[in-house]
Amino acid sequence: MEGALIARDRVGVQDFVLLDSHTSEAAFLDNLRKRYRENLIYTYIGTLLVSVNPYKELDFYSVKQMEIYQGVNFFELPPHIYAIADNAYRVMCAECNDHFILISGESGAGKTEASKKILQYFAVTCPTTEQLQVVRDRLLLSNPVLEAFGNAKTLRNDNSSRFGKYMDIQFDFKGAPVGGHILSYLIERSRVVHQNNGERNFHIFYQLLEGAEDDLLRWLGLERNPQKYMYLIQGRCAKVSSINDKSDWKIVRKAFSVIDFTETDIEHLFGAIASVLHLGNIQYEEDSNGHAIITNGSQIKWISKLLGVHLSILQEALTHRKIEARSEEVLSPLNIDLAFYARDAAAKAIYGRTFTWLVNKINGSLANKFNMKGILSSSLDLTRKTVIGLLDIYGFEVFETNSFEQFCINYCNEKLQQLLIEMTLKAEQEEYELEGIEWEPIPYFNNKIICDLVEEKHKGIISILDEECLRPGEATDLSFLEKLEEKVGDHAHFLTRKLADQKTRKSIDWVDFRLLHYAGEVTYCAVGFLEKNNDLLYRNLKEVLCKSKNGILKECFFPSELDNRRRPETVATQFKNSLASLIEILMSKEPSYIRCIKPNDGKEPGKFDDVLIRHQVKYLGLMEHLRVRRAGFAYRRKYELFLQRYKSLCPATWPYWHGAAANGVERLIKHIGYKPEEYKLGRTKIFIRFPRTLFATEDAFERSKHLLVTRIQARYKGCLGKREYKKQREAAIKLEACWRGALARKEAKKRIWAVETIKRFIKGFINRKNPLCPENDEFVRFVQYTYLTKLRDHVPKNVLDKNWLKPPAILEETSAMLKKICMRNLVRKYCQGITAEKKAQLQQKVVASAIFRGKKDGYLQSISQPFADTQLSERDINPKVLQLIRGEKVKYMTPVIKYDRNGFKARERQLVLTQSAAYVVEMAKIKQKIDYATLKGISISNLSDGLLVIHVPEDNKQKGDAILQCGHIFETVTKLCMLANRQNAVQVVQGSLQFHISSGKEGTITFTTGQEPQIYKAKNGHLTVVSPDLRTRILNPI
Ligand SMILES: Nc1ncnc2c1ncn2[C@@H]1O[C@H](COP(=O)(O)OP(=O)(O)O)[C@@H](O)[C@H]1O
Ligand SMILES: [Mg+2]
Repeated sequence: MEGALIARDRVGVQDFVLLDSHTSEAAFLDNLRKRYRENLIYTYIGTLLVSVNPYKELDFYSVKQMEIYQGVNFFELPPHIYAIADNAYRVMCAECNDHFILISGESGAGKTEASKKILQYFAVTCPTTEQLQVVRDRLLLSNPVLEAFGNAKTLRNDNSSRFGKYMDIQFDFKGAPVGGHILSYLIERSRVVHQNNGERNFHIFYQLLEGAEDDLLRWLGLERNPQKYMYLIQGRCAKVSSINDKSDWKIVRKAFSVIDFTETDIEHLFGAIASVLHLGNIQYEEDSNGHAIITNGSQIKWISKLLGVHLSILQEALTHRKIEARSEEVLSPLNIDLAFYARDAAAKAIYGRTFTWLVNKINGSLANKFNMKGILSSSLDLTRKTVIGLLDIYGFEVFETNSFEQFCINYCNEKLQQLLIEMTLKAEQEEYELEGIEWEPIPYFNNKIICDLVEEKHKGIISILDEECLRPGEATDLSFLEKLEEKVGDHAHFLTRKLADQKTRKSIDWVDFRLLHYAGEVTYCAVGFLEKNNDLLYRNLKEVLCKSKNGILKECFFPSELDNRRRPETVATQFKNSLASLIEILMSKEPSYIRCIKPNDGKEPGKFDDVLIRHQVKYLGLMEHLRVRRAGFAYRRKYELFLQRYKSLCPATWPYWHGAAANGVERLIKHIGYKPEEYKLGRTKIFIRFPRTLFATEDAFERSKHLLVTRIQARYKGCLGKREYKKQREAAIKLEACWRGALARKEAKKRIWAVETIKRFIKGFINRKNPLCPENDEFVRFVQYTYLTKLRDHVPKNVLDKNWLKPPAILEETSAMLKKICMRNLVRKYCQGITAEKKAQLQQKVVASAIFRGKKDGYLQSISQPFADTQLSERDINPKVLQLIRGEKVKYMTPVIKYDRNGFKARERQLVLTQSAAYVVEMAKIKQKIDYATLKGISISNLSDGLLVIHVPEDNKQKGDAILQCGHIFETVTKLCMLANRQNAVQVVQGSLQFHISSGKEGTITFTTGQEPQIYKAKNGHLTVVSPDLRTRILNPI
């Protein structure tokens, strides 16, 4: 569909501003025609929308279409009524101001449809909440109810609005519709009692008869046939093919429940409506006195029942009139004409006021009762709202016979045209002048002159009419016409038959007057003007209605009206005043315009009646509008506001511009790159010629918003971060301070403790020698403790370790005891660890010690070497020898060198010690046996030689002393001593010794020290034994 629209758009231009020839009416019409043929019924003149009634359903009103137009720049999409609605809505949201959309055009041009489309658009596209859905539904459903009661089929339009309607839709700050208010203007009451040929009464009558349930009709005393009711058949077209009264009835019934009507309300409402129908069927006859009497009794009974008024009082009120003569009230019977008049007046009054009640009731249900949080409250929400007003008012009307209603309607259109002129053409041109923008004025027809003709005080037609109505004496419609001729006869836009020239005279009747409206000539028939303007309801009828038990009538007819002796305002004056206040309401808002055009008189789709349309184009002032638009500027804004909105687009103006706003704007647009032909700078405003320029700026602004938001966000986050950092830092510092304090306190405590301890230590040290007392107690204990713990690690590990930790003075005694214990312990342990062999060995060593200790060189060095059991094994000994000493146990064997006693010749021998004797063995021979029992002694030197002499008794027959040298002198001598059990037999000699050679013969051995050990026979015949001096050559073993 969208694509199709765009494709078709090639046919004709979508904005008349783009026409080559903007002054040519023909080109204008041509464009309109081309587009209309392609079903492109919408065309712009700048921001004004021209709409041509298609008289057929078109497919561009879907929800999808609404979404397409939502939030899109005005000229980006093909012209559409949704674009107008969306634009008004968006500007309202952005600038927080009130708007109205004025929909104008003649009857049947599509105004009501347009207003419905706009309402639907808002209902679908505006944000809403679940609670606000109710408001939305009520806004939408108030329409069918109002249309049922206020619309009727006319010759021009099958659904013609017979009242003016201005509806405010209220939006909250979020742009959600939260309520509404309707103002209604001059419902055409004459239609209740009379319809022209081909027209109908208000829809609701037919809907009621067609659609109502049987029960309801029975209760209302009605029959399901409009033909039965006089008020419904005067136009002779109760049934219309384009209208489905039955289904419309259903919609209305459903709407009632949504817009808060109770069953009682509905009962009363239809009671009033039915009573109108019954009133219409009341017939009169003349009695013999020429007074009217009611012929049909059943009708009046129904009325009495439905309105809850007494039958006879009603009857009287419908046939008599109360006349006040001085202070008296006289009841005067009516003639048949006046009786019909009274009946019709009652019907019109009931319907008219019921309609007003209906509007008020709907307003009650549309009133915004949601508070800020969207919750329904009992009181009205008084927070700031912005509104979009929709004005759908009856269009300019010209019928064959035009009466007071058409006069009012056309006057209304005259006023709206004046508003449009004020707000666009005139205001625009004046603004250019005021702002000092070069400008060539566009001539246009200002219809103020016609408005004045109608409404001027004392001089205008309404004043003259009122005067005639109020003046005493016989005033008639004709006398009113004469007054008009007299007072406004010379007005250029006024004409009567008398004033007309020869040619035009024919077309004007004697009872007519003609007004030259901005939209064309209309000839009004003055007949009925006075009556309709007075709208008199006889006092006694009013009294009856005041007493009605019908809730609605009770609310509509106030007894106070009866007390008010002043004449009520006439209908025309009321209308004039309400129009004036409407204009005031509109002037305070930003306008958008929709100009509706009716393409033909036959409601035919596709038919483009050139003459008819040219006429409308002319009187709607579209050509003038186009010319002003072409010459003018699409957009203007005060420097301050423009700068405020777009200042973020230029670095020099963002975020603040400190100079004059005008200079700021100049700087700004220079930065954006406006071309000279695109704008003009006025005194207080900037004027932008083309919408596209503005839209480009707006788009740039939209984009920059994101940037700004990001920047603001970043700043904000930065601030938050910094704040958090500061907080954390402060906290850290506090913690640190606390921690440091704690540490310092701890340290100080430690120091104090240390000082105390040191002091005590020193005191203790000073007093250490005193007996234990408080001053030295700790020190002493400390010393003890340290010494003991140290000692623990330095206890000697074996018996030979003589190291012992030096004790402090006070512990000397303890230390000695400990040392003793420790030694004992070590010894005990050592002893326990000693084996029998080892013990034997040690015993030998003990013996050796007794023998050699301090006596012979080399002994100390030998201590560490344990004694061997033997130096030779039995295998080394000749078995013969062993055989020889068989009876004895061999204890020790060692190789020795034996020196002859005479020549001192050295011979290798073995020394074998048994338990009883020592044997010197040479191979298989025992050379010498020395019984221990006979052992005289053993001599050794004090030097480190290995020489030993075993002394035998002198009487020994066989041999003398044995001179032996062995490698293990200490071992061998010790063993020998022990075996012989002669420990004290050893003699350590120094220098020399004597030995026994044989009986009576002795030899000498001399011991000396020298470099090398040697044994030799010295010249003196002594055996000289040289040993190294161990005291100087300590390293030399034995
Ligand atoms: N946009 C439209 N699309 C289809 N039909 C339309 C459109 N506008 C008007 N009409 C037809 O024209 C008739 C008269 O329109 P309406 O709005 O009642 O006229 P107005 O309120 O100006 O007297 C409607 O009943 C409808 O049939
Ligand atoms: Mg209408």
